[in-house]
Amino acid sequence: MLIRHETIEKNSILLLVLTLLTISVGGLVEVVPLFTIETTVEHVRGVRPYSPLESRGRDIYIREGCYTCHSQQVRALRDEVERYGHYSIAAESMYDHPFQWGSKRIGPDLARVGGKYSNDWHIAHMADPRSVVPESLMPRYAFLAANRLDTGDLTARLKAQKAVGVPYTDEQLAAAAADLRTQADPAADNTALLKRYPKAVTVPGGGPFVTELDALVAYLQVLGTMVDFADPANENLRQ
Ligand code: HEC
Repeated sequence: MLIRHETIEKNSILLLVLTLLTISVGGLVEVVPLFTIETTVEHVRGVRPYSPLESRGRDIYIREGCYTCHSQQVRALRDEVERYGHYSIAAESMYDHPFQWGSKRIGPDLARVGGKYSNDWHIAHMADPRSVVPESLMPRYAFLAANRLDTGDLTARLKAQKAVGVPYTDEQLAAAAADLRTQADPAADNTALLKRYPKAVTVPGGGPFVTELDALVAYLQVLGTMVDFADPANENLRQ
């Protein structure tokens, strides 16, 4: 055996050929099984595409650079889980294009901020963070409440999301404008909206038009609420 090995080591071409062969076989064994699984992100009950209003709120979040101070990923570390709740799982951001995990935390992580505060708290906080958290160093975003939300290209935006893999149905696309208005109007009947987008939180709205703040609050209120970790179907996800 050793003598044969010597032959290989002394013959550079043979060594090269056998090395390449070994690496190829090893590579195939590693890679081929991956072709047989559909996706590496496991599907989890509850994760749905953003409602039209939430989706536009997410656009505002990105435009305003909120991600420069806020991450959206609870790490699987004890102190994080105790502070923010269940650690983030891949499926929760499977429809985020681009994802908002972020890497900087001047402010707290927002992955599970949905439902933590009332709509009114968010409205006051965005207008002037120091009105609710005196020591806050977050900038004011009062102008969002005065800005009319641009919905002209709403369907085109959702279609663009669909093109990159977010499964909006034709029904959801057709009802986009109506769903957006309904979510910003507490007086409207939101049965159809909730059927299409379970857990969508209605925001107060109330002005003559839907504002950028309405959209942003709707987005913040759904963050981290889609997956019910107490649901037995999600048993394997529990900590
Ligand atoms: C300069 C950094 C900075 C930027 C930019 C920033 N924030 Fe903050 N944010 C903070 C800090 C610091 C806090 C903690 C104090 C507080 O609650 O105001 C905070 C708190 C928050 C909270 C409350 C979180 C909690 O769990 O208590 C929300 C919600 C929030 N920010 C949303 C936003 C949104 C939306 C934007 C973009 C429009 C934004 N922030 C931009 C620094 C920032």
